[in-house]
Amino acid sequence: MKEQDKELSELNENGKEIPLKQDNSEKVQDKNKFFSFSKILLFIVVGAILIFGIIYIIKIYKKMNSKIELIITENYDEMSKKAADIIADIIKKNPNAHLGLATGGTPIGLYKELINKYQNKEISFKNIKTFNLDEYCDIPIDHKQSYYTYMQNNLFSHIDIDPKNTFIPKGEGDILKNIQEYEKLLEKYKINMQLLGIGSNGHIGFNEPGTKFDMGVHQVLLTQNTIKDNARFFDDDIDQVPKKAITMGIKNIIDAECIILVANGENKADAIKSIMDGKIDINIPATALNTHKGKVYIIIDKKAACKL
Ligand code: GLP
Repeated sequence: MKEQDKELSELNENGKEIPLKQDNSEKVQDKNKFFSFSKILLFIVVGAILIFGIIYIIKIYKKMNSKIELIITENYDEMSKKAADIIADIIKKNPNAHLGLATGGTPIGLYKELINKYQNKEISFKNIKTFNLDEYCDIPIDHKQSYYTYMQNNLFSHIDIDPKNTFIPKGEGDILKNIQEYEKLLEKYKINMQLLGIGSNGHIGFNEPGTKFDMGVHQVLLTQNTIKDNARFFDDDIDQVPKKAITMGIKNIIDAECIILVANGENKADAIKSIMDGKIDINIPATALNTHKGKVYIIIDKKAACKL
């Protein structure tokens, strides 16, 4: 046996050679394996802590820089009162304000509050101009569920606004012409406050998921989700719900000086969470509010806030 081999072996009690250094080197190899495995594990853990830390810091930074003021209320009535108070203050400060208005079930309570404030002589709409977000297509303007009828019934017929100062997109006739006219109108009058509701899929106005944020006034095909949601206003019959609408685009909405979004109920909680998480995603149109440069109020009841 060579001198070198002798070093590597030892005799056992049966006189058989047991490799010595080799054994040690296996142990060393095992040790090395263990160390490199723990190194990888450590690397993964430190990496994950770093990534989550950075995400957390970005979230805090976004929250600190956000222009969004979140107001969570006990219930629908309180939500309506808060929103009406803010709108009344805007009117008091600027009696010639241009108000962007919304429809749907959510704003009805706040319109009632505004009517009360008008009746108590707290505010006047004499010199106010209003611009509605949207209107259904293919139903007559005086249809009981048109947004024109909604606005007359829920606000305009109860206050001192001049009907000439109330603007709602027209969903009948030459749609292309109507779109161009409404766009021109919005270019002429800067909206001081835009009121928004929110669809359960995150739509604002009738800007359905996938709408580009730089779009102006346009016609839309409503999604099945929105048609289903709005069927409650059409005897729960989806066949009666118009399939098309004309709407301000997200660009028009974001151009407003200040935005007030109101929401109540658990079915809005996911969309609200997406906004408050600071997302900017065309598949959740309301997240466009995170690109707004001015003040945004999100006024919601506890149920809509349940995922925050
Ligand atoms: C409609 C309107 C939206 C409104 C939405 C939510 O689709 N176009 O402007 O925000 O409904 O309605 P609701 O308040 O009834 O839940």
